[in-house]
Amino acid sequence: MKYHIWTIGCQMNKADSWHAAQELEAQGHVPTKSAEDADIVVLNTCVVRQSAEDKVYGRLSSLKPLKRHNPHAAVVVMGCLVEEDSTALQECFPFVDLFLPPSDVQGLMSLVTDKWGDASSQAGATASPVPVSCHVPVMQGCDNLCTYCIVRLRRGKERSRPVAEIVEEVLCLAQRGAREVTLLGQNVDAYGHGLPGQPDLADLLRTVHEVDDLWRIRFLTSHPNDMSDGIIEAVAELDKVCEHIELPVQAGHDLTLKRMGRGYTVNQYRRLVERIRDHVPGVALATDVIVGFPGETEDQFQATYELLAEQRFDVVHVAAYSPRPGTPAARLDDDVPQQQKERRRRLIEELQRQIAAEINHELLESTTEILVEDKHKGKWRGRTRTNKLVFFNDDADWRGKLARVEVTWAGPWSMQGKLRMTDLASGSLPFP
Ligand code: SAM
Ligand code: SF4
Ligand code: F3S
Repeated sequence: MKYHIWTIGCQMNKADSWHAAQELEAQGHVPTKSAEDADIVVLNTCVVRQSAEDKVYGRLSSLKPLKRHNPHAAVVVMGCLVEEDSTALQECFPFVDLFLPPSDVQGLMSLVTDKWGDASSQAGATASPVPVSCHVPVMQGCDNLCTYCIVRLRRGKERSRPVAEIVEEVLCLAQRGAREVTLLGQNVDAYGHGLPGQPDLADLLRTVHEVDDLWRIRFLTSHPNDMSDGIIEAVAELDKVCEHIELPVQAGHDLTLKRMGRGYTVNQYRRLVERIRDHVPGVALATDVIVGFPGETEDQFQATYELLAEQRFDVVHVAAYSPRPGTPAARLDDDVPQQQKERRRRLIEELQRQIAAEINHELLESTTEILVEDKHKGKWRGRTRTNKLVFFNDDADWRGKLARVEVTWAGPWSMQGKLRMTDLASGSLPFP
């Protein structure tokens, strides 16, 4: 059978879709680019903001005529659109065969085997290469109480996967060609709560670090309150763990942080960043910010702007506040006009474009190690340990290899470089 998966949302959703594709292919099903051609159509959905939800409903409505052409097709909707009680969705979209909660790949596979049988024995084991850089969910859900956030309502309470199960998955990915893994959780630095023996993220990093043929480890996203000294030490100490931390601040004013329910003050956040920078030299920090939260005054927005100007993060993901049904913040007056939210968002984007350009400019003429992931528009594309995109030209096959590249051009979002042939001769790295 042919399958088509449409995905929107965060890395967790992308990882779930990849996992679903792997399971479907293990059963002999083949991917197709167009939903109209497919027998199995999966929409993996996100509702973090109204704009994402609108896209989901648009895509879902466009599938309505699908069953007229192919009455045997199965349409499955999974991800964060789906609430525990999906009756209302079933009534609105009767052509959907199944609504599944986020990450329920097994639920999808049960429907597929019920409908078309288990074809795994005919299909044989999947030996297809995996991406050089893979995402591995290590926990689900979130126990924090951020007042604007629908994720915790849709993904439920925190549940961590056992260390052994994660390591087995990473081992298998490395054997199939992965060289980097990113360990994923909504609140990944709370990993391990409730597991027997109470392992934490530092313990998990140390165990994954032992996997042969794996060269790099990342993790995201971290909540400032759960970023322990033990985790910072593990990042500093373990060679394979990259100097790259995603640490959302969300706002730069204490009153806004309080109304957001984030559980820390701006100064506590500042001190944490200082500790990380002291212990992990050269660390790249990324953060998330919401502008236009209910009651955010111009001065409070300025405080956020100034914090970002002072801290000079490598990456800032900025979003305009979007009220989400069922969240405590949705009961507050959404009183910052849309135009102002957009203005604040653009101001931060412009500030960050400038900062990122300056940070990357400092790398000009330096040589950096990149893990090459694939070819894009004729050029090799890879990332530095600090997660910066670098492109270079070469005729050899560099996929999945470490290259030393001299930076010849630096923009805010990517860099261009040339291979250092002197290093090539030294043979100190796994060359093609
Ligand atoms: N767990 C992470 C954290 O603690 O920030 C991220 C969760 S969320 C999937 C990703 C980002 O979406 C958040 O960091 C936040 O900036 C943004 N976001 C979440 N809810 C939002 C809302 N109601 N309006 C605008 N942006 C939102
Ligand atoms: Fe949502 Fe806050 Fe949990 Fe992040 S930490 S998923 S923003 S509740
Ligand atoms: Fe979206 Fe759910 Fe991720 S709402 S951002 S897909 S956790």
